[in-house]
Parts: sequence; structure tokens; C-alpha cells
Amino acid sequence: MKDITSREDIEFLMQAFYKDAFINPEIGIFFTKIAKINLEEHIPAITDFWEQQLFRKGGYKKNVIQIHKNLNHKKEMHKIHFDTWLSLFQNTVDTNFKGEKAELIKTRALSIATVMQLKIK
Ligand code: HEM
Repeated sequence: MKDITSREDIEFLMQAFYKDAFINPEIGIFFTKIAKINLEEHIPAITDFWEQQLFRKGGYKKNVIQIHKNLNHKKEMHKIHFDTWLSLFQNTVDTNFKGEKAELIKTRALSIATVMQLKIK
């Protein structure tokens, strides 16, 4: 198995993650019914976000905490949602990649999720 080395790798990872997230019984509703996200727009934005996190490029400028604060106003986000999101994310990474960046993306996801849970309230 290879490490995450390019934007294309991140995009592949995000496609795999959202495929599972959309049909997940705990969190799917946030994507399909609450935010009604269009994956063709969302995948490039989230790929920018992670490209910034992993490789310091991609030019992601939006405030991710604020985005989830708004989401939390529409439907309250609880620990179960974050735990589910994180385990899906970690599983998607582990199924497809192995290496330093694969570890980094999981660590980053965990720390952002931890801060997010506190700050959206
Ligand atoms: C309970 C856990 C989570 C749920 C249910 C969730 C759901 C969502 C939804 C529905 C959106 C779209 C919001 C909109 O367009 O109005 C969104 C955006 C986003 N999420 Fe999450 N999220 C979760 C946790 C996280 C975490 C932990 C991260 C990062 C580590 C993250 C990263 C992002 C980013 C970067 C965007 C914005 C993409 C853009 O700029 O358009 N999310 N999330």
C-alpha cells in the first residue's frame, strides 16, 4: 500500500469517504438532508482543505469551525456523530493508504474534530 502523495490521492480518499458517509445511519442525514451538499462542488473544496493541511497548498481559506457551527444550528451535532465521522475517516484512510501522510491526516482529523466539538457549541 502506498502513502498519500498527491492531490489526486486526497481526491480519491474523499470520494471513498463521502460514499460511506452519505449512507451512514448516524451522519448521512447531515450531508443529504440538512446541508444537501453537491459532491461535485464539495469534493474539490474538501480536497483543497486537506491539501492545505498535508502539503501546505490548495489555498483553502474558509473557516471550517464556523461552517460546522452553522450546521450545528440546523441540526445539533453530538459526540456520536463525531465518533462516527472519525471512525469512518480512519477506516477509509487505513483501507487505502499507509505511511507518514496517512498517519498525519488521521492525527489532524482527530485534533480538528476535538476542537470542533468544543467550539461549535
Ligand atoms: C460530526 C462530524 C461531521 C459532520 C456530520 C460533517 C458534515 C459536514 C457537512 C454537512 C458539510 C457541508 C456544510 C455546508 O456546505 O453547508 C461539511 C463541510 C465541511 N466539513 Fe464537515 N462534518 C463533520 C466533521 C468534520 C471534521 C472533523 C472535519 C475536518 C477535520 C470536517 C471538514 C469539513 C470541511 C473542510 C468542510 C467545508 C468544505 C467547503 O469548504 O465547502 N468536517 N461538513
